[in-house]
Amino acid sequence: MSAVHDHLARDLAPNDLDAWWLPFTANRAFKKNPRMISSAKDMHYVTPEGRKILDGVAGLWCCNAGHNRAPIVEAIQKQAAELDYSPAFQFGHPKAFQLASRIAALAPADLDHVFFANSGSEAVDTALKIALAYWNLRGQGQRTRLIGRERGYHGVGFGGISVGGIVNNRKFFGSLLAGVDHLPHTYNRAEQAFSKGEPEWGAHLADDLERIVTLHDASTIAAVIVEPMAGSTGVLPPPKGYLKRLRDICDKHGILLIFDEVISGFGRLGTAFAAERYGVIPDMICFAKAVNSGTVPMGGVIARKGIYDTFMKGPDHVIELFHGYTYSGHPLAAAAGLATLDLYREEKLFERTAALEPVWADAIMSLKGLPNVLDIRTVGLVAAIDLASIPDGVGKRAYDAMDRGFRDHDLMIRITGDTIAVTPPLVISEDQIDELVDKLRKIILAVA
Ligand SMILES: Cc1ncc(COP(=O)(O)O)c(C=O)c1O
Repeated sequence: MSAVHDHLARDLAPNDLDAWWLPFTANRAFKKNPRMISSAKDMHYVTPEGRKILDGVAGLWCCNAGHNRAPIVEAIQKQAAELDYSPAFQFGHPKAFQLASRIAALAPADLDHVFFANSGSEAVDTALKIALAYWNLRGQGQRTRLIGRERGYHGVGFGGISVGGIVNNRKFFGSLLAGVDHLPHTYNRAEQAFSKGEPEWGAHLADDLERIVTLHDASTIAAVIVEPMAGSTGVLPPPKGYLKRLRDICDKHGILLIFDEVISGFGRLGTAFAAERYGVIPDMICFAKAVNSGTVPMGGVIARKGIYDTFMKGPDHVIELFHGYTYSGHPLAAAAGLATLDLYREEKLFERTAALEPVWADAIMSLKGLPNVLDIRTVGLVAAIDLASIPDGVGKRAYDAMDRGFRDHDLMIRITGDTIAVTPPLVISEDQIDELVDKLRKIILAVA
């Protein structure tokens, strides 16, 4: 067979799943019995057989506007025909500047400057590198230590897994970045079980930063990075007052504070950014995912004016930050971002999320008391349900819930360990919330 024919034959082969090594997936189980998606519209995915699956997770916490929304699709199509790609090193195109201005306008205070990357992982590495370079330029190059948090998720780059705190994402990958410490995570079931929104207990856990400062001295610490709401570990809303306390301690010691808002950005908690919900201004915000409703890969960092200005020194022709990606500010991603932000504004999706939060929380909490339900947490349009593990099979019950949810109940959910996470597109209706909760109830009973 010629190479071309070989290719064609392979494209047409309906069930050759061998070549793609799927990310964060049980590959062998998947390839034995795949969960395949072929199209989507608004709140639903559609399987190749035509089954409609209610999207309980906005894809991967990214399709906040719902799927295949006409204005976003049209903006991408138009952009592809007009300008496919232009380099971001030493050249620019208008839409990346427009999008940066729009994002900066959504961000609080003087978070005025946007550096584009292509994913959350790249956004995190970018923020960590900016922090280190910033201190270098300020003549405090000994500030190299980075502080993350147990159970934190900051993507999969070496920077992100070093400051991250999820053991399986770290333990296989060697010595990681040197000079990283971790704050304790903020979850305590005995004190917080079945909390709606921010738990009352736990603000004092921020004080552990003082212990780390005492151990190393503030003059060695560049930055603290946290998710305002820890998402991937199983949804841990911050305890009341925790983030303010962290900000205060950072200020006291001149340490930069980075919020990783890859999940919480663009409306998930009822505000443009969690920084606004919690009234805490970080020095940098990492974003990705919902910036363009998950349609074209994009991420980035929003930096405060003082950080940007620190770099804008020296001769005009010299590059100020030796960092960037071929696809930083890609035209398709930027066009999609502009259309998405328009849609968020026109449909008031952030405000709508804030209004829906109590309805959502009540609906999800109605699952309390079902077999194996150990805890439920809700915040914004986010919920997590902890299930009791099967003896000798940690993660198995939730895996079955995810699998059966898709096959038998036409619902897509996300799992981590034995926790189910639900984070639907922000366009979900109240009827669809009821439908989603009803499906969850059946799924939880099915895996009891
Ligand atoms: C808080 C946070 N940071 C970073 C990332 C990594 O993003 P990506 O998968 O786009 O690299 C994620 C992904 O879920 C995330 O939740």
